[in-house]
Amino acid sequence: MKFFLDTANIDEIKQGVGWGLVDGVTTNPSLVAKEGVDFHARIKEICVLVNGSVSAEVTATDYDGMIKEGHVLAKLHPNVTVKVPLIPDGIRACRTFSQEGIKVNVTLCFSSSQALLAAKAGATYISPFVGRLDDVSQDGIQLVKEIVQIYKNYNFTTQVLAASLRHPMHVVQSALAGAHVGTMPIGVLKMLFNHPLTDIGLKKFLADWEKTKEQIQKK
Ligand code: G3P
Repeated sequence: MKFFLDTANIDEIKQGVGWGLVDGVTTNPSLVAKEGVDFHARIKEICVLVNGSVSAEVTATDYDGMIKEGHVLAKLHPNVTVKVPLIPDGIRACRTFSQEGIKVNVTLCFSSSQALLAAKAGATYISPFVGRLDDVSQDGIQLVKEIVQIYKNYNFTTQVLAASLRHPMHVVQSALAGAHVGTMPIGVLKMLFNHPLTDIGLKKFLADWEKTKEQIQKK
């Protein structure tokens, strides 16, 4: 499973990249707005830091506007994946981008029927929003499972990018469901490390080692 960071924050990306755990980045207009920086410059900056897909989202909602914006974004850096919303014009734009060899992430997916449309339009990634479905008492992980199964049934090459992951179990359950990618905030990535028995075990090992008066690096 690839790990993408869901952020437009440079410090967070540097931290994740430093751990060697970041295969890509997803941004969206809300995440960019939080940063209050020049959008194009920030996307380029992220692309230089990350050796993988960097999703940058169009904000036009009509086909012609999405195509124009998508071309601008795709030209920023070869790592850019153009993100389009799952609406009819977005699916049409997805088909055009995919025919032009531009990678596309179809976002705001909340049903298997929508995911089928994205795959048929040649999307590189489909982004089911797990947490936001859970928020409205629907099973987000069940949606990931269904999409993975449907894509397998027809050998679609579109990758399932589980998004809106809010906690470690969302990541684990997406992995169990066979999602190709999980995109998560840095806080969720950090939580994946946590286990109290690791901390307790390390403390005990170090205390016992101390008693030996040994050193691994001899002077
Ligand atoms: O990648 C989509 C993500 O940014 C949405 O997450 O937590 O706002 O639902 P959230």
